Amino acid sequence: MKKKVLILGSGGREHALAWAFAMDDNVSEVYCAPGNGGTAEIAENIKVNLVNLQEVLRLAQEKNIDLTIVGPENPLASGIVDLFRKEGLRIFGPDKYGAQLESSKLFARNLMAEKNISQPSFYSCNTREEVESLKGILELPLVLKADGLAAGKGVIVCETDDEFEQALKTIFDDGKFGDAARRISLERCLIGEELSVFAVCDGENFKILNTAQDHKRAFDDDKGPNTGGMGAYSPTPLSTPKLIDRVGVEIIQPTLDAMKERGHPFTGFLYVGLMIVDGDPHVIEFNVRLGDPETQVVLPLLKSSLFELLWNATEGKLKKSKVVVSTETAVTVVLAADGYPGKYKKGMIIKGLESVKDRLVFHAGTLQKDHDIISNGGRILNVVGFGKDLQSAIDDAYAIVESIEFSGKYYRKDIGKRGLQYLKKGDTND
Ligand SMILES: Nc1ncnc2c1ncn2[C@@H]1O[C@H](COP(=O)(O)OP(=O)(O)O)[C@@H](O)[C@H]1O
Ligand SMILES: [Mg+2]
Repeated sequence: MKKKVLILGSGGREHALAWAFAMDDNVSEVYCAPGNGGTAEIAENIKVNLVNLQEVLRLAQEKNIDLTIVGPENPLASGIVDLFRKEGLRIFGPDKYGAQLESSKLFARNLMAEKNISQPSFYSCNTREEVESLKGILELPLVLKADGLAAGKGVIVCETDDEFEQALKTIFDDGKFGDAARRISLERCLIGEELSVFAVCDGENFKILNTAQDHKRAFDDDKGPNTGGMGAYSPTPLSTPKLIDRVGVEIIQPTLDAMKERGHPFTGFLYVGLMIVDGDPHVIEFNVRLGDPETQVVLPLLKSSLFELLWNATEGKLKKSKVVVSTETAVTVVLAADGYPGKYKKGMIIKGLESVKDRLVFHAGTLQKDHDIISNGGRILNVVGFGKDLQSAIDDAYAIVESIEFSGKYYRKDIGKRGLQYLKKGDTND
């Protein structure tokens, strides 16, 4: 019997998930709550307030959903998985306890310390005085992190004394991060190359989907304010089979073992944010869901069934699934509204989508209005290009960018450049 799938969320990541399920032979219907203008074309959008978990539960019951997948972190951190499981509904994701791997940086750090997983030295601090006194031990540059969820804005890297003083002011005087900063992880700053590894976990075992690198800053050459992400590519040239193996053996497996020992086997996506220093992986952070926009490059490269993988994971039978990944490279460029992540306009009509309808364009902040697709957010579309190597995938993605127009179209011109520079250095981890 074919299954009904519900995806929670409304961004480009959720459009990519909906796209993968819509093509899957195991799936009869795809629902998105609340979804966006892109998911409306391939799935049924249902209005729902994701903050109200009871409302989401009722929706899944009314529609007889067989499998629910959670896009963003907040419902996981609020315990949506615990609620669904209690009611006997199948949902893919960690319980509230497991979601702490993302919702508390210090929970994750302490768990890694317990298992001797490689990470930067860190201290758990409760007060400004503690942070100040430990500065002398760690020395600059160092990193101050709000313990709790801060929508990707709770981390300050300090290279100078001035930056350190400013960070203290932001956290302790201005209270910018609110409750999320009740505790602070003060960390040594690692200098190296960043990459992310995406895995599916079933409580005991894991399968790695792929690696990716994202581009968080608003402007070219990694300048300007942090955003939700302006582009990504997968895989990254940094990720040799040997490095990926090490991440599995030295990081993911011991993390799953620790969660099981604590009585909360971890089921869900595990996103491992790494800093590679002298060829060795160190964990910067865990996320317990897929990244956005990394999902938009990772899922199109997955050639085996995503549904089967996640279904088997919820049964603790991930070992039955095969993960087949394309040998191509994928690049996604985010088309944003001018001004994002600051003030920007909404409601612009998007033109040219018809001319690229045989290409992958995932919607993020869009709405369907009559016969038009209009912008409804800062990050509007994600175009995805493919190629036999990184350069050709970059060229392919930017060719699609040219075909789409809307007033105030803004995008970074250098997505993938870091990967190319790394390749030029010719320096691999083998
Ligand atoms: N210990 C560290 N050393 C070097 N860079 C770091 C460290 N911790 C965080 N960073 C940088 O800050 C960014 C954000 O930190 P992260 O822990 O991923 O938090 P979040 O994604 O929740 O904002 C990372 O992608 C990385 O560039
Ligand atoms: Mg991060």
